[in-house]
Order: sequence, then structure tokens, then C-alpha cells
Amino acid sequence: MNDKVLIFDTTLRDGEQCPGASMNLRQKLEVARQLARLGVDIIEAGFPVISEGDFESVKTVATQVRGPIIAGLARCVPKDIDAAAAALKPAGKRARIHVFLGTSKIHRDFKLGKARAEIIRLAIEGVKRARKYVRDVEFSPEDASRTELDFLIEIVEAAIGAGATTINMPDTVGYATPEEHGRMFAEVIRGAKNSGDAIFSCHCHNDLGLAVANSLSAVRNGARQVEGTINGIGERAGNAALEEVIMSLHTRRDFFVPAHTNARLKEIVKTSRLVTRMCGFVVQRNKAIVGDNAFAHGAGIHQDGILKKRETYEIMDPVAIGWGTTELPLTKHSGRHALAIRLKHLGYELDKEELDAVFARFKGIGDRKKFIYDDDLATLVGDRISEVAEIWALDYLSVTSGNQTVPTATVRLKKSQRGKEPLMMQDAGTGDGPVDASFRTIERLTGKRGKLLDYQLRAVSQGKDAIGEVTVKVDFGDKVPVTAKGSSTDIIEASAHAYLNAINRTLAFATSKK
Ligand code: KIV
Ligand code: ZN
Repeated sequence: MNDKVLIFDTTLRDGEQCPGASMNLRQKLEVARQLARLGVDIIEAGFPVISEGDFESVKTVATQVRGPIIAGLARCVPKDIDAAAAALKPAGKRARIHVFLGTSKIHRDFKLGKARAEIIRLAIEGVKRARKYVRDVEFSPEDASRTELDFLIEIVEAAIGAGATTINMPDTVGYATPEEHGRMFAEVIRGAKNSGDAIFSCHCHNDLGLAVANSLSAVRNGARQVEGTINGIGERAGNAALEEVIMSLHTRRDFFVPAHTNARLKEIVKTSRLVTRMCGFVVQRNKAIVGDNAFAHGAGIHQDGILKKRETYEIMDPVAIGWGTTELPLTKHSGRHALAIRLKHLGYELDKEELDAVFARFKGIGDRKKFIYDDDLATLVGDRISEVAEIWALDYLSVTSGNQTVPTATVRLKKSQRGKEPLMMQDAGTGDGPVDASFRTIERLTGKRGKLLDYQLRAVSQGKDAIGEVTVKVDFGDKVPVTAKGSSTDIIEASAHAYLNAINRTLAFATSKK
């Protein structure tokens, strides 16, 4: 058996599928490029038949990202497979079509209304159709962990016989326990006569918090591909967090030997941060590997031990996974060229227009803040590439507040109008606090009222003059709430930018539906 464990990243498909995590094409491309630098083996870039947007993002990633195999998801339905093949065409020999079909009794009886024989027939047809387009076909018996073992073996054998080169057995609803999950892999690999002709893959959801443990158990029992997402994002409780899988296999290589991955550990923290920034899902502080506290030692006894010998309380070297590698900060005196070089070093590929926009904001921030750190730069780039058509923009904001004052905001907005001079509109209003006063005034001016579901503020970098990044989740009555960000050294201004960004997003969404 080949002992390399392939890392299959589905951040852009299963990860992005979760409400509120959606990314625009530009953001997806940036994530895909970083995943390639991380050294993942396969990037699942989307589900092409689902929407024009998904089709375009799979096609763009297939065209522009070099290195990993690019996969597109499809049901065992001709139009899905044809769409996936068309979107993946630019990837040439690096294209993989991933077909899936529900196989558990509950899926067969209630979702699909089909008997076992019909399911087998559809699986064979789906795999064969995909094989007409590409040599690399993955088949997933959806809800494998709740599928009867004899039927699972039968369908796996049939799919491999039809030409599937990878068999992925998902724990779709996060129901399995590690021991059971490992046993399923061992028994299917032993039971399917042609199992040697395919690579076995696991795809675990985290409903019981067991996704990583289940994935590792699958590897111990013969899986040689692990599917998951960065930061574990995904529907419901998410998918297996790939950074945890990669670091478990690396840190405990004594236990998992000879299984190993080829991931570039140094890129882990950068990748995690980029995904956070692009999809707006903040990682909890105590999250393993990439949380802010993952390597923070509060107890004096630990600190003392670490100083004497790091390994007394640290099982991983934080620097090896990309923590603490910040370079000398830039200042307002740094030029466009210095900025471009630093951004390139950070892994961003910006065109001239994007660089100009980031440079203009860099200069603005430089007037307010002495040092501009890598995290500040990443926020400026993130803001730029997350932009939607700016229908409403903040022109002026003045706020008064205090413990004996009614919080009041005066806001002037610029409304862009096609082919005409922008319209300037000004108003003032009060609220429970300065943020509330600003949001209410913005709502009155724009005529868009929303329910604020979540508000988070974090300092992007160090120091009292750090840039504050505000993330808001607002329900404007659309199908899904909008998540948006804004940043500034002034947190009230950052809040106003975030709220306007949310309004621009909901308006852009409404226009794209027309
Ligand atoms: O969780 C799941 O079953 C999936 C399949 C489409 C692979 O995401
Ligand atoms: Zn899934």
C-alpha cells in the first residue's frame, strides 16, 4: 500500500456550503492559491451544476491554480457530470470528477425512493459517464457510515469495476465513533474484491466533535486520502479540520508510521487566517493548532518549564507551523514598491488596480498608525478583494457619546448612481450607544433595515493603535443572513463600514437575482 495520505481540501465546496461562509470568486481564488502553497493534493473547488457562480469558480480555479488536482462535485446525474466536466476542462489531466449518491437505507427509502439494485445501476452509470471525460473519478456512497455493510461492499465493488479510482466513504451526518469508523474501512477494504484498484478516502463531519478522530481512525485502517476543510468550517458543526489532521499525522508519526502527508507545515497558520478573513468565520481562541491561545501558556509552572526546555509543555513547534514569523512592520514612509514586495512575500497576487487601491488605503492607515504589520496588510487586501459594488459609501462620520450624553451619530453617505454624479445624503440620529446610533442613521439614509444577529470586534495586530476589524451578521429578510466586515483604526468607523458593506452585499445579491 502507498503510505502517502492525500489531503483533499473541500473548503471551497463543503466549507463554503455552510450558511454565512460564502465567498466571492476572487476570494475563492486567493484561498485556492494558498491551498496550493500549503501543498494539499486535491482542491474540491465547487459543485458546478448548482449555480453559474459555482461553475465559474471551479473553472477559474482549474485555469489559474497550478499543482493540486482540481475536483468538481456532481450527483450521479448526467447534467451534473457534464457540467463538472466542462468546468474542469482547463485543469486537463489534473481534473477529477467526484460523483456521489446516497446509499444508506434512510437515504434510499426517503430521499431517493429507490431500491438497492437501482442505486447500484445509477452509481455504475454515473462513474462510467464521468470516466468518459476524465481518468480520475471519485465515487462517494453518501451516508456510508449508516449504510448496511454488505450493501456498502457491493456498491464499492461496482463503482471500482465501473472505473472509480478513489472511493470516499463519508460520515455524512457525523454519526460514527472512531472505533466503528476504522472498522468500516478495514471491512470494506478486506471485503471488496477489487479494493486494491482504488484509493480509499474518509470524509467526516463533526456533529459529535469526532471528525478528526474518525479520520485518523480511518487512516489507521487503510484510508489514504483525508477530506476536510481549513478551520473545520462546513455545514452544521463542520468538517474534519485539516490542520488538525495534518498536525496529528505529523506530531504522532511514531504512531501513524508509515502514513504521512506532504503538506507544508509552515503554511498552516497563514492558510487558516486567510480562510477566516475570506469567509468571515472567526476561529475560537482555544482552537487546536490555529487558535490564538493554541500555544499560549498562562500558568507560571508551564512558562518556567518552557523556558527551561520547550518540549516540557509543547508537543509542536509553533514556528514550524507558521506562528510568530512576522517581519519588520512597514510605516507610512514605505513606498508602493516595498508594499508590493511584502504583499508578494505574503502570497498575494494582486493586479495593478488592486495594488493601487490597497496602496491608497495603506497610506491612509499610515497617517493614523505608526507601524503597519503583516496582519494589517492582510486585512487591507482582504477588504479589497471582498468588495462588492459599492452602492453606498461612508463619506463623513461624527459621533458623540459618553456616560452623561445621548449617543448621537452624524453620517454623510455617498450613493453611486449609474452615469451620474454620486448623491450625497446626510442625517443624524441617536441610539443606545455610538455603534447603534451610527447603524440606525445608516438605515434611515439607505432605507434598508436589518436585524443585527452578531457583532464581533477584534484587533488585527498589536498595539493600542491597532486596526480594529468588525464583523457583522445581519438579517435583511433574504434567504440567508449577510456576513460583512469593515476595518479602521477607529472602531466606530469600522462598524459603520461593516454595516454599509452588509447593505451593499444584500443589494448586490438582489440585483444578481433579477
Ligand atoms: O458529507 C457528504 O456526504 C458529502 C458528500 C457529497 C461527499 O459532502
Ligand atoms: Zn460533506
